[in-house]
Amino acid sequence: IGYCLNLTEQELTAEAGLCVVIPCSFTNADEFTPKHIIWYKCEASQTKCSDADIIFHSNKNTDKKAQPGFEGRVSRLEPDVSQKNCSIIINDLKESDSGSYQLRVTGELNGKQDGFSFSQRVTVSVKGLIQKPTVMIPTLTEGQQATLTCTAPGLCSGSVPGITWTWRGAGGTESYIIGNSTDFKTESLTAFRQRHSSTLTFNPSAEHHNTNVTCKIHFTGETTTEKTSGLNVNYKGKPQIIGNKTVKEGDDLNLTCSIESFPPALTVWKKLGSYVNLHNDTGSATLVIYNVTTEHSGLYICSDRVFSGFSKIQDGSGCVLQSEVLTCVCISEGFPLPAITVFLSCFGAFLTTELISAPLLRLFSKQLVQTAKHGG
Ligand SMILES: *[C@@H]1O[C@H](CO)[C@@H](O)[C@H](O)[C@H]1NC(C)=O
Ligand SMILES: *[C@@H]1O[C@H](CO)[C@@H](O)[C@H](O)[C@H]1NC(C)=O
Ligand SMILES: *[C@@H]1O[C@H](CO)[C@@H](O)[C@H](O)[C@H]1NC(C)=O
Ligand SMILES: *[C@@H]1O[C@H](CO)[C@@H](O)[C@H](O)[C@H]1NC(C)=O
Ligand SMILES: *[C@@H]1O[C@H](CO)[C@@H](O)[C@H](O)[C@H]1NC(C)=O
Ligand SMILES: *[C@@H]1O[C@H](CO)[C@@H](O)[C@H](O)[C@H]1NC(C)=O
Ligand SMILES: *[C@@H]1O[C@H](CO)[C@@H](O)[C@H](O)[C@H]1NC(C)=O
Ligand SMILES: *[C@@H]1O[C@H](CO)[C@@H](O)[C@H](O)[C@H]1NC(C)=O
Repeated sequence: IGYCLNLTEQELTAEAGLCVVIPCSFTNADEFTPKHIIWYKCEASQTKCSDADIIFHSNKNTDKKAQPGFEGRVSRLEPDVSQKNCSIIINDLKESDSGSYQLRVTGELNGKQDGFSFSQRVTVSVKGLIQKPTVMIPTLTEGQQATLTCTAPGLCSGSVPGITWTWRGAGGTESYIIGNSTDFKTESLTAFRQRHSSTLTFNPSAEHHNTNVTCKIHFTGETTTEKTSGLNVNYKGKPQIIGNKTVKEGDDLNLTCSIESFPPALTVWKKLGSYVNLHNDTGSATLVIYNVTTEHSGLYICSDRVFSGFSKIQDGSGCVLQSEVLTCVCISEGFPLPAITVFLSCFGAFLTTELISAPLLRLFSKQLVQTAKHGG
């Protein structure tokens, strides 16, 4: 066998900012001892590239230098020439790197300097960067610190890219996440393969729900790529009750309780002392009682969960009438605590009639405290 070049890929496409590996191996005549490899880039029409076209020379002690534009960007994968592995990696690609690449091997033939230029070429086409960063977002829960990871595309050994994060709050206005921290990491996979990533750590809250975070990668030569990801934060606000909480006998009661949350929370209406839930819905539930009578008097609770009877309302819960002001205290137990709104909202509403009598109220309060005690 003589001089033969094995290029497994003669047409390569790559993206600006990233890198390309030209896989290559050769064979030579037995009398020839290869010493150095030289890669050129020149017009495909030229049968032989010239010294001015050198992009890589494995001999560092020669005046035949690589073109300044390629200096430091080209590395051979196998430093031992006797392996006859002429593969190279070109980093920090630019569109102008597109072209036809030629190999020359120099060495000794019967003790004399010799070399062989292979006519086979590799065509490299460098296009604009289309690959996007990879962004990993864990499940975000309000109050639990979370770390987002953005990984740059391409596994190259060239210049280290810059990675920046931006956040767009509600309304799409550029803002920033208070108290965030970022960290940059480079992982070496092989001698010529590196993975670059950045992490963004912050404390998610309801204000981050339905907002966007963007990770942007800056490669050399003003090549950038970015990815925008939507954030969903699991959170739950306190129940909010709207509507007239005081009704006269014969009126209709119409109270809406909404729990701002993601995902939408179960919203339950129940009457203290009753073992059945009056009404439930997700996100927001409306309690309607037509033609209210004194029998409807009571404490109505809106909660984010179904609880049986009084089991979660502890001792000490109850109402006290002082002058004309009714004060209710609600102590709940259980973990996590049911989201019950505090005081009046805690009990939802105090339904009364204009003719409500003090004895009825006292009876009611007493009953409440007693049942609370029984409930434990
Ligand atoms: C060319 O190289 C490839 C990969 O190293 C190898 O699988 C293949 O056998 C080689 N072909 C020749 C003709 O040597
Ligand atoms: C050349 O060497 C590199 C690095 O050791 C190796 O990954 C690659 O497979 C080799 N290529 C050939 C054609 O032998
Ligand atoms: C988030 O990005 C999506 C898609 O790009 C867009 O439709 C939405 O308006 C953005 N939201 C905000 C809050 O910027
Ligand atoms: C992180 O916080 C810094 C200042 O504290 C800010 O400049 C940067 O924009 C923030 N990043 C994000 C993604 O909010
Ligand atoms: C609530 O209803 C009562 C009884 O009908 C009425 O006197 C009061 O004005 C109402 N309050 C509001 C804010 O509508
Ligand atoms: C209850 O009030 C809401 C808004 O205040 C209204 O849209 C709804 O029709 C009312 N429902 C009834 C049954 O009166
Ligand atoms: C919600 O109410 C429906 C009927 O209105 C009932 O079938 C269902 O079991 C209730 N869900 C919960 C969680 O209480
Ligand atoms: C309201 O309830 C009272 C007592 O049950 C009844 O007499 C009255 O007819 C009812 N009114 C309406 C409008 O249903």
